[in-house]
Amino acid sequence: MTRFTRRQVVLGGLGLAGTGLLGGCSPASAPGPAHGTRTSFPAQPALSPAPGRTVVEKTLTAGRATVDLGGPRVETWAYDQLIPGPELRATAGDLLRITVDNQLPADTTIHWHGIALHNAADGVPGMTQAPITPGSRYEYEFLVPDPGTYFFHPHVGAQLDRGLYAPLIVDDPAEPGGYDAEWVVVLDDWVDGTGRTPDDVFAALTAGNGSDSGGMGGMDHSGMGDPPFGNAGDVTYPHFLINGRVPATPETFQAKPGQRVRLRVINAASDTIFTVALGGHRLTVTHSDGFGVEPVETDAFYIGMGERYDVIVALGDGVFPLVAVPFGKDGQALALLRSGSGPAPGASVRPSEVDGQILQASDLRPAQSARLPQRQPDASVQVQLSGQMSPYVWAINGAPFGRNTPLEVSAGQRLQLRVSNRTMMTHPVHVHGHTFALASGVRKDTVLVRPMEAITLELQADNPGEWMIHCHNIYHAEAGMMIALGYRG
Ligand code: C2O
Ligand code: CU
Repeated sequence: MTRFTRRQVVLGGLGLAGTGLLGGCSPASAPGPAHGTRTSFPAQPALSPAPGRTVVEKTLTAGRATVDLGGPRVETWAYDQLIPGPELRATAGDLLRITVDNQLPADTTIHWHGIALHNAADGVPGMTQAPITPGSRYEYEFLVPDPGTYFFHPHVGAQLDRGLYAPLIVDDPAEPGGYDAEWVVVLDDWVDGTGRTPDDVFAALTAGNGSDSGGMGGMDHSGMGDPPFGNAGDVTYPHFLINGRVPATPETFQAKPGQRVRLRVINAASDTIFTVALGGHRLTVTHSDGFGVEPVETDAFYIGMGERYDVIVALGDGVFPLVAVPFGKDGQALALLRSGSGPAPGASVRPSEVDGQILQASDLRPAQSARLPQRQPDASVQVQLSGQMSPYVWAINGAPFGRNTPLEVSAGQRLQLRVSNRTMMTHPVHVHGHTFALASGVRKDTVLVRPMEAITLELQADNPGEWMIHCHNIYHAEAGMMIALGYRG
């Protein structure tokens, strides 16, 4: 086992930004390496919606934008000039036909995070498609088989850490409902346009000084860090956002006292795990990564990058803070839920629930409908996470992506993934095209793997193609913490 001490962050000079391996700092200079070297790609199959379902069509323009975060104005990249981008909404069985108009000064793609779609629409450049070049358009066409809370983002470079993300909500035609109102809550850590771009941040990290050169100190990277997640992240962010707004001028969601509200919480951050709580309320967790769990009450829950949780709250009468507190970092994200009169809490309000019982994925039990059928694994592969800050290289199975050996499975197999984390950080491990089961049976597509932890995941190999498995810390992924999973034959 490799043990290492991440070096203490020193005050970095801003001059370090843009001097990294990527060179330069113009926005177009750092598209990030393609995630593969293919030049021919799987064909888009002819698809039609399930019986009784429809086609959802939309054009998304990815472009430069000047956005008001509720005070700070930032130059960034966004979908349709919005942060988050426009919500896409469908019903399970619908066919989505989404055209991306790339007005960015860089290549891009869209990955439909968590959707078990056919391989050609998965949005991985160099693996499932050629990158969408500046000035060109690309049409994604795919079925959404499973209801749930999802999102989408580029799979190129550190573009996710710009404003390029948006919710994708798939309704369940068979769902009993059981709630009166719904609020989609998108969490983010924000740096772009505050003097550094995500490309600058990545360049500074890979320059090997073990710091993101925020110029304002940073994370304590020595030793194990705080439980349960260890070292907090690699990047110091000036802002944390809910639905694109800073806490000083939060989004306010209106509802009536006594109503049951479903919150669909999406962590679109690149380097931040959050604790989420609603002041004055208990939360009933109903879904994780789109799939049902046995409903369970808690004061708060942890959510890693790429994870989604759905919760139901029975509303009191008043004005309540919804907070997302970044794990191991300063600051918070805030929104308000207003069901009655009263003054709004201040930007730094800290509801007691944040320090109460905090639920983790391992506390959940699956809903009966979410269980994979009982079956012995046919095959087992290891997914070993390693890496360090200096040099900034993160790897799976002993080598960064491109130099590690792709994993293989045969169609129809039950595959066991033995994931072990040989580092002092927590890594959200995300699998494309499939939803895996934890040992408890809980179905997820993204799971937090804690420092030195080993867990076993199982998936049903029912979606042939070539898929990514990677850390959803976007800087780790860029630095190599990815591996391919291919189907034999
Ligand atoms: Cu949201 Cu490959 O990731
Ligand atoms: Cu990671």
